[in-house]
Amino acid sequence: MDAHNSSTRERILKMRDVRISFNTANGVVHAVRGVNLDVYRGETVAIVGESGSGKSVTVKQVMGIRSHNEVIEGGSAEFIYTDEKGERRIVDLISLSDGEMTKLKGNHIAMVFQDPLTSLDPTMTIERQLAEGITYHQHLVGKALHERCVELLDLVGITDVEARLKSYPHQLSGGMRQRVVIAIALSCNPELLICDEPTTALDVTIQARILELILEIQRKTHVAVIFITHNLGVVAKVADYVNVMYAGKIVEAGTSEDIFFDPRHPYTWGLLSSMPSVLSKTEARLYTIKGNPPNMLNEIVGDAFAPRNPFALEIDFEKEPPCFDVNNHHWAATWLLDGRAPKIEMPEQLRVRIAQLKGSEDIGYE
Ligand SMILES: Nc1ncnc2c1ncn2[C@@H]1O[C@H](COP(=O)(O)OP(=O)(O)O)[C@@H](O)[C@H]1O
Ligand SMILES: [Mg+2]
Repeated sequence: MDAHNSSTRERILKMRDVRISFNTANGVVHAVRGVNLDVYRGETVAIVGESGSGKSVTVKQVMGIRSHNEVIEGGSAEFIYTDEKGERRIVDLISLSDGEMTKLKGNHIAMVFQDPLTSLDPTMTIERQLAEGITYHQHLVGKALHERCVELLDLVGITDVEARLKSYPHQLSGGMRQRVVIAIALSCNPELLICDEPTTALDVTIQARILELILEIQRKTHVAVIFITHNLGVVAKVADYVNVMYAGKIVEAGTSEDIFFDPRHPYTWGLLSSMPSVLSKTEARLYTIKGNPPNMLNEIVGDAFAPRNPFALEIDFEKEPPCFDVNNHHWAATWLLDGRAPKIEMPEQLRVRIAQLKGSEDIGYE
């Protein structure tokens, strides 16, 4: 958790001012409006925010996955990696050619999606699907290839491996399929693994096991993980760093401790307040953030969260807030942190809740 104190952190992804729009029949959707994101080797970075806030579109840029109606308005996504010859390379993933991206994909960057069924081919055995990437990138064949397949299923906690390798996706449970997808993603030892809501389609007990698995793999392989979820409770268990996203922007970023124990953006306050907590099962009604996210077809003036923000200042409706540093690993884009702003504290109920959480073993969100 105190990875930020280490001077040896090695940045592998640096996204700056990434802006993505979509042309639609109704006009231009400004889906991602200037995202900055850093990922360091071996660390887990979470992106959390309501559905539609731009999480998937942001990480798809890293994988070169683009829709036909997508417009890259600007920005860069530097990826730093070591190539096959052992040379350090820096590429901008946003402007990379399809050919170059194909070489990086699977080999250096891999992605796990929400629904394992869409990532697996129903007509191919698990072994063939695992073998495909390994053959393409690592040129293994025969016995060595088979052994690597066995090793990968072991890594993701699948038992009875020989039988499983001969199975087809429909013969496996949802949780098992997601393990296979993770095994495929890890097959070429990527430096960066992107998990886009990897547990959302699974039932709650399986979700917990898949999360535990991702953590375990990370401890073993030191792969960096970008973990996307709309569920803050999941984040508390997995992330070193948390990025809170709202209406196409990251509005607060910090370590898990910063975000859970010292949140500064009113949107983060709302998210935390609206989470069921193991310590507050007696609370009759959970807080909900009133209103809806803005329509991204419209131009946003000021702070996008202002209309839903009970603490909004006049300036929030007029001028977009810059990022204010809280400390050297925590910032938030809210005018409340400006020196001239009136002193506004987080809601009392949330303050009490955080105080309770600090004293408890588990961070306590579910
Ligand atoms: N191909 C597309 N055409 C038009 N709008 C899109 C397209 N892809 C995504 N969007 C819009 O971009 C916004 C962000 O989407 P997304 O990144 O999928 O959100 P999240 O992953 O946070 O739920 C949404 O408003 C979504 O409707
Ligand atoms: Mg998404």
